Amino acid sequence: MNITVVGSGYVGLVSGTCFAEMGNKVTCVDIDQKKIQKLEEGIIPIFEPGLEQMVLKNVKNKNLFFTTNLGNAISDAEIVFIAVGTPMGDDGSADLQYVLAVAKSIGKTMKKRLVVVDKSTVPVGTADKVKITIQKELDVRGEDIDFDVVSNPEFLKEGAAITDFMKPDRVVIGADSEYAFDKMKQLYSPFFRTHDRFITMDIRSAEMTKYAANAMLATKISFMNEIANICERVGADANQVRIGIGSDQRIGYSFIYPGAGYGGSCFPKDVKALKKIAEENGYKANLIESVENVNDAQKLVIAHKIVKRFGENLSGMTFGLWGLAFKPGTDDMREAPAIYVVKELVKRGAKVKMYDPKAMKEAKEFYLKNVENIEYFNSKYEVLKEANALILLTEWKEFRSPDFEEIKNTLISPIIFDGRNQYIAYKLEDKGIEYYRIGK
Ligand code: UDX
Repeated sequence: MNITVVGSGYVGLVSGTCFAEMGNKVTCVDIDQKKIQKLEEGIIPIFEPGLEQMVLKNVKNKNLFFTTNLGNAISDAEIVFIAVGTPMGDDGSADLQYVLAVAKSIGKTMKKRLVVVDKSTVPVGTADKVKITIQKELDVRGEDIDFDVVSNPEFLKEGAAITDFMKPDRVVIGADSEYAFDKMKQLYSPFFRTHDRFITMDIRSAEMTKYAANAMLATKISFMNEIANICERVGADANQVRIGIGSDQRIGYSFIYPGAGYGGSCFPKDVKALKKIAEENGYKANLIESVENVNDAQKLVIAHKIVKRFGENLSGMTFGLWGLAFKPGTDDMREAPAIYVVKELVKRGAKVKMYDPKAMKEAKEFYLKNVENIEYFNSKYEVLKEANALILLTEWKEFRSPDFEEIKNTLISPIIFDGRNQYIAYKLEDKGIEYYRIGK
C-alpha cells in the first residue's frame, strides 16, 4: 500500500518505518526541513533501539522516503496518518493547531479518495474537527472527493517502540465506514502472525480509549506511590505489599512499582488533557486530578528524603546522580523526575554530579540547560567522587548491579537514595551502606 505519515516524531517515524518494513511504500512528511534532511542522510533525531537500522534498511530498499512536501506525498497515497505533536496548551488541554493545520493541507492538496487517520493522541471529537477542516478546503476548491477520518490510537512504549509496533497487543480502529475499516485491516493484518487482534469501534470511543488506557496506567502508579507513602509512615514495606496485592489476578503485577514518579511524553500530558476534557464537558474528574497531584508530589519524594537526612540547607554538599531519562531505554527527559530532583537540590545549595547513558545531551541542551552547580560525567563511578551520597533515578541496566564496594569506597559517606527500589535484594545495610528507598 502507499502510505503517507505526517509528523516524523516518535510515533510518526516509528509507525512509518514499521509500515515500510512490512513492504508498504511510505513517505514520512515533516515541516522541519533540517529534520527531513538529516533523515535523508540517515541521521535519526531520537534514540530508539532498532530504529536506526530499520530506517536505513528501508530507505535503501526504496520503501521509505522523506519529504517536506505534503501535497506530493499524498498524491498517490491511500492512507495518510496524522502523527504530529499535540503539546499541552497553557490551560492543560491538548493543542490541536498542528493536527488541524495538517488537515487543512490535506484538504487543499488531496486528489483522490483518502483514509485520513488520527494517530496523535487527540481529545474526543477531534476526528469531527479534522473532517470539517478537510471538507471546508474541498468546498473552497469545488472538489467532490470522498474521504474517511479514522481514529487509530498508538500504544507503543518508548524504548520498546519497534517491538510494540511490530507485535501489537491490539490495534484499535475507530471508523464510520466499511471502506475505512477494510483499508485499515489490510494495512495492519501483516502485523498479526496468527490470529488478528483488531478492536473496531466508533470514532469517539477509539479516541477515548487512548486516554482511558494511559489514565488507568498512571492511576495504578499513583495509587501504588500513595500506598508506599503510607507504608513509610506505618512501618510497612511497599515492596512486600506490592507482591502481596499483585498476586491477585484482578490486580496483577504490572505497573504497581512504586518509584520517583512517572514521567514521559504521554502520562503527564494525557492525564492533564483528560481532566480538561472532562471539565469542558461539565464533569469534575476528581480521581484523575488526584492521580496528577500524587505524581507531582512523588517526583520530589527523593529530594525530601535527602532533606530529612541532611537538613534543609544543602550548601557544601555534593550528590552523585545516576539516571536522567524518565525511564531506561530512552534519551527522553520529558517530565522526568530527575529535572525536579536536581533543581530542588541545587535550590537548596547542593552541587549535583550526573551520569546517564543516553540522556545527557537532552539535559544539557534543554531540560537542565540553565541550571547552575551541575556537572556531567561519562561514567557512573566518576560522579561519586567527593559526593555525599548516590541517588538513583532511572533503572538503566548498567545501574542495577553495581560494585557496591566501589560505591562505598568512593563516596564521602556510604549513603544511597534509591528512587526505583533497585537494590532491595542486596541487603545494603549489612554491607555498611545507609540505604533509603521508596515505600519503607
Ligand atoms: C506510556 C504507555 O505505556 C504507552 O502505552 C502509551 O502509548 C504512552 O505512554 P511510555 O511513556 O513510553 O509509554 O512509558 P512507560 O514504560 O509506560 O512508563 C511510564 C512511566 O511510568 C515511567 O516514568 C516509569 O518509570 C513509570 N512507572 C511505570 C512507574 O513508576 N511504576 C510502574 O510500575 C511502571
